[in-house]
Amino acid sequence: MTLQFATRNDAIIAGYVPFLVATPQNRPYFDTAPFGLSIAEREIIDPMRLESKTFLHLLQRLDQLTFGPEGMPMPLWIFYDCSELPGGIFGFGRYADALDATLLAEYGVPAEYHGLVPFSMYIAIPMSRPGDWMGHNLASLSPTFPELGLRGLGAITKALALKVYRVEQFYGVTQWESKALYIHTKFGPLGLTTAFTPAHSTPHSLTYSHAVDEACIRAACGDPTVTLDYPPAELYLDSLDEKGMIELQEQIEAGERFAIVGPPERYENGVRHPIARR
Ligand SMILES: CC(C)(COP(=O)(O)OP(=O)(O)OC[C@H]1O[C@@H](n2cnc3c(N)ncnc32)[C@H](O)[C@@H]1OP(=O)(O)O)[C@@H](O)C(=O)NCCC(=O)NCCS
Repeated sequence: MTLQFATRNDAIIAGYVPFLVATPQNRPYFDTAPFGLSIAEREIIDPMRLESKTFLHLLQRLDQLTFGPEGMPMPLWIFYDCSELPGGIFGFGRYADALDATLLAEYGVPAEYHGLVPFSMYIAIPMSRPGDWMGHNLASLSPTFPELGLRGLGAITKALALKVYRVEQFYGVTQWESKALYIHTKFGPLGLTTAFTPAHSTPHSLTYSHAVDEACIRAACGDPTVTLDYPPAELYLDSLDEKGMIELQEQIEAGERFAIVGPPERYENGVRHPIARR
């Protein structure tokens, strides 16, 4: 199955199975056929049922395999209380029987399990204003198993998840050093809400926000016919420049508005972010 438009990532979309974790209460509010990519009934997982246990535990394993090395693995209660109950989890997977034994062992899939094994997930949580959502977790096994050639998996997972959840205004939190910013900036310029965030366990976190429309989702999916506008950079912030982050934060608090206007750029001192006034 593919989307209603062609993308650079059609091989992944056709070769992997979309899934959605949703409670019966939330499910009617979700789009279970984003751009015609129908999520089969058996791939809509109810976290309130016993039969969902192994799949939900594999989502935690996915998180460990991807986030684990960065030291932010999630306990199951965060999955349940802060993800499955209030929001949703959308991703792509493959059935265990279609996977080779080495991968199953490295993943930690139980030998008796023949169900879907998640390869990516995007978790988001609704905020107070209808249509506002915050991104809570993005995970893709592409970097863990580079031999599978899954480049693009992270981006299509986040993009289609926003369509599934019917997000209108998106908020996200990430770290200036995070490679995920290569993905987030595919959705267009990112309005900066915080540039230095002592409320977070990693103060080098930024909070960003953007409106979600069909064009930005298609662009992030890799639709070559969609081009988004990015204003030119007026300044650059090094991903480790704490002083620069605090100065930017002070200007935001004083009422100035900034946006990240492109993906992270490598330069002679490391990685820097293009920023412009809005
Ligand atoms: C971040 C993560 C989701 C990315 O998944 P992925 O499937 O590799 O992502 P994609 O292939 O869709 O996109 C990665 C993009 O980053 C680019 N990229 C990554 N590292 C790069 C680098 N060092 N230099 C330049 N580009 C880089 C890739 O080229 C690609 O962009 P492209 O398709 O335009 O070339 C995955 O690494 C992960 O699960 N990490 C751990 C969890 C995490 O950090 N989550 C994000 C929380 S905010």
